[in-house]
Amino acid sequence: LTLPRLYHERVVDHYDNPRNVGSFDKNDPSVGTGLVGAPACGDVMKLQIKVDDSGKITDACFKTFGCGSAIASSSVATEWVKGKQMEEVLTIKNTEIAKHLSLPPVKLHCSMLAEDAIKAAVKDYQAKKTKPSEAPPVEK
Ligand code: FES
Ligand code: FES
Repeated sequence: LTLPRLYHERVVDHYDNPRNVGSFDKNDPSVGTGLVGAPACGDVMKLQIKVDDSGKITDACFKTFGCGSAIASSSVATEWVKGKQMEEVLTIKNTEIAKHLSLPPVKLHCSMLAEDAIKAAVKDYQAKKTKPSEAPPVEK
């Protein structure tokens, strides 16, 4: 596989060796799941965080069905959120991810997916926390 020259080597690195690919159990109360799609291209990104009682993100993983830039952006996003407080990661901007990976302007929406996915994962975790405990999900 050869990638066009317009991609920065960091993108190629995160593309060839994406960090933290995987899934957590979304029914785990310590897990927040963000699932977002890009209307522009139909690509989908799932980013999950594991949060401890102090609100610190102890682990993160992703699955992205999308272009190389979206995969690289999710890979960077999981690296950046690990070890941070939830409020802190809400300030991560897609433009910072894009800059880090030197994404060309046409690929900006791919990094937007990562910013949205982080926010959605935090929101999901917080919604789970504030909801009164429900009956455990039925195993299928
Ligand atoms: Fe991986 Fe910077 S090269 S986050
Ligand atoms: Fe749509 Fe990259 S082309 S996420």
